[in-house]
Amino acid sequence: PLPALDIFPSAPIAPVSPYIFSGFLEHLGRCIYGGILPSERTTFPYTPRRPCPPDVDFVDTPQTLLTPEGFRADVLAVLRDELRVPLVRWPGGNFVSSYNWKDGIGPREQRKRRPELAWGGEESNLFGTDEFIAWCRVAKIEPYIVLNMGTGTLEDALHWIEYCNGTGDTYYANLRRKHTGRDEPHAVKYWGLGNEVWGEWQVGQQTASAYAAKARQWAHAIRLVDPDVILIGCGETGVNQWDGVVLDELADKVDMHSIHLYTGFGPRDRSQTEREYGRAVYGPDAAEYSIEVCKGLINKARFARSVSKPIKIAFDEYGVWDETVGTPQNGLEQFYNLADALAMASWLNVFVRQADIVDMACIAQSVNVISPLITSPTGLFRQTIYWPLYLFSRYMRGGTSVRVSLVSPTFAGETLPQWISSIKGQPRDLDASAVVHVDKQTGARSLRVAVVNRNESRSYTAPIRVAFERVGAEVDVHEIWHADVRAQNGWGQEEAARILLCSSTGSWLAVSLHHPTHIFDIVMDD
Ligand code: AHR
Repeated sequence: PLPALDIFPSAPIAPVSPYIFSGFLEHLGRCIYGGILPSERTTFPYTPRRPCPPDVDFVDTPQTLLTPEGFRADVLAVLRDELRVPLVRWPGGNFVSSYNWKDGIGPREQRKRRPELAWGGEESNLFGTDEFIAWCRVAKIEPYIVLNMGTGTLEDALHWIEYCNGTGDTYYANLRRKHTGRDEPHAVKYWGLGNEVWGEWQVGQQTASAYAAKARQWAHAIRLVDPDVILIGCGETGVNQWDGVVLDELADKVDMHSIHLYTGFGPRDRSQTEREYGRAVYGPDAAEYSIEVCKGLINKARFARSVSKPIKIAFDEYGVWDETVGTPQNGLEQFYNLADALAMASWLNVFVRQADIVDMACIAQSVNVISPLITSPTGLFRQTIYWPLYLFSRYMRGGTSVRVSLVSPTFAGETLPQWISSIKGQPRDLDASAVVHVDKQTGARSLRVAVVNRNESRSYTAPIRVAFERVGAEVDVHEIWHADVRAQNGWGQEEAARILLCSSTGSWLAVSLHHPTHIFDIVMDD
């Protein structure tokens, strides 16, 4: 079929939640130590897979590159001012399942150094709850804390919440006042009930029913300490038996259901080095399927327990991760190419299209660890996958997602997982989402359309038709493009993927798409 894209501004789905641009910081590799703080070189055997600037591991970050609080100013500025990250999940991830939050408070010289069970190495505990909150305040980012449901007890969790949110004359609220020198609470609203408790790699893995029974008790008790928290239950990928069991048990106790999925998996034949293009780039279609199924499971569970309040999906770990490249040995550092950026744009299209149920999405992770940002002690570079995030955060935020109908040739090869194609059909080469944006000051409306061509080599020309609306002739086109879909960004050059801005008058109606990501900002007439 000839490719074509129809947009229906008169068919709104839901406002796009700003929280789909959220992040994730885990005590893993160089995420905290080396990303948020200057590196603490003894904590992790860091062996990068690709050459870094020669100063890595030999030069300390100079004071001038730090905020007055001692945080890396460059990373903070990118997350706050460029990507405008609204919320960050912390401290893990797998790390949290053996994390004792009490090791990470009080005078830093007295903090306990511990073996780190999730990823190996040692945890200095130099970055703990008060540092996380201080960083969030400087970064103007909302904190989201995950509770330890592995080695942690309910009592530990209740103390942690009292420490953060207590306003009374109680022991842990007073301890926080003593440590921070301020009366005001940390006011942490978002709390996660464990991380990937289903996984065999998890400290304290449990069965779905054992977890659900425990999480139910925890939720009840937590709300006695703070009735205003937003509680996030631990799901799997949204389509698993685990998700159904947990939702059935927790529907009246949680506000959100968390799911995790990564795309960009390495070659199944481990003697090969090249990632399988199809499985990597079209992978986010699996996420959309997960979301659709999960929405059904949520509504089934709400029906069974007569729960009228909505339960939203927190996709609180997603991203592009080839586990043969980003390994525990190198702190999950992976260098991305333009194909990965196409996958990232597809991920974001999924979240925009699914705006009625996805209320939060946290890229895993925010710095160094399978991340859009890679630091050295003295600087950083933006990976290819940074640019779709930047564009979406800038243009697709604050609008209402509207229906899109797409005719596109499909990908004939294998995608991941194969059974999804057998249910949903082969993934389409073109992928799109759209939002209607209303300027708060002027009331001017514009239509923002994100289009990705995922085909490895073919170009398409596709008309964009806007149904039942008059659109003006003015269009801004933001394009991420490179001739070579395998080109990478690196130190000293962020060239492979970066944004080109072309202003256009009407010619956008037939745009040639050769593996780029486009965002069209189309003025709509009144
Ligand atoms: O983001 C890396 C890891 O992936 C997280 O620690 C874990 O939750 C997931 O398996």
